Amino acid sequence: MAQGPNNGLLERARANGALLGTDLHSHVLPGIDDGARSTADSLAMLSLLASLGYERVITTPHVMEGAYPNSPETISEARQSLEELPPGLQLFAAGEYMLDEGLMRILEAGDILTLGGRHVLVECPFQQPWPGYREMIFEMQLREYVPVLAHPERYPYWMADPRGLFSLLDAGVLFQVNLMSLGGRYGPEVRRQAESLLQRGMVSYLGSDLHTVASAPDLIRGLASAAVTVHAPRMANRHL
Ligand SMILES: [Fe+2]
Repeated sequence: MAQGPNNGLLERARANGALLGTDLHSHVLPGIDDGARSTADSLAMLSLLASLGYERVITTPHVMEGAYPNSPETISEARQSLEELPPGLQLFAAGEYMLDEGLMRILEAGDILTLGGRHVLVECPFQQPWPGYREMIFEMQLREYVPVLAHPERYPYWMADPRGLFSLLDAGVLFQVNLMSLGGRYGPEVRRQAESLLQRGMVSYLGSDLHTVASAPDLIRGLASAAVTVHAPRMANRHL
């Protein structure tokens, strides 16, 4: 590795990536959402994650009615289009499910991809949550799924008043914070919210939410951040 002013940063990022071991949120499959567009993009992103110390990637294409109507079939087809992976890296595919009416139909059909075990990555829209999102979470739990909320720190409507987030936690939802939030990618408020959730012990997982290899500097900054160095050892990423 070339010596340079960022060498210490990269080393810290790698050490923390190795500690986390598994990345459980990314968009590396080609052509099925707003992430990788080609297999070359996919390999560049996976090589980045491997170079940052990760051993396993559970990638999570969006499943969103209208925008990204993915299914276990489209996801498995895209996964199979990647024949060679960076050495030492394992790749699994799940989904990032929008909490909306579409998910009810998916649940009823039993057509859902988990992160491993019964854990399912879910997200809410950034404008406002779907009115029935609490019931949807309950419906998931009735079917013995464990909802994992992606980037709880990024929803503007929970920024000013986080009580909605706290009540999700009380209801048994697990939280996955984005590493790039801790690196300042989405601004100081999101960073503060991410740090505050970590400090309160409310976060189970840290994920990259990588959409493009162009985000490498943000991801490295996040992985190397003081908050990640402090909290990575007690994250549950490896347990998926
Ligand atoms: Fe995502």
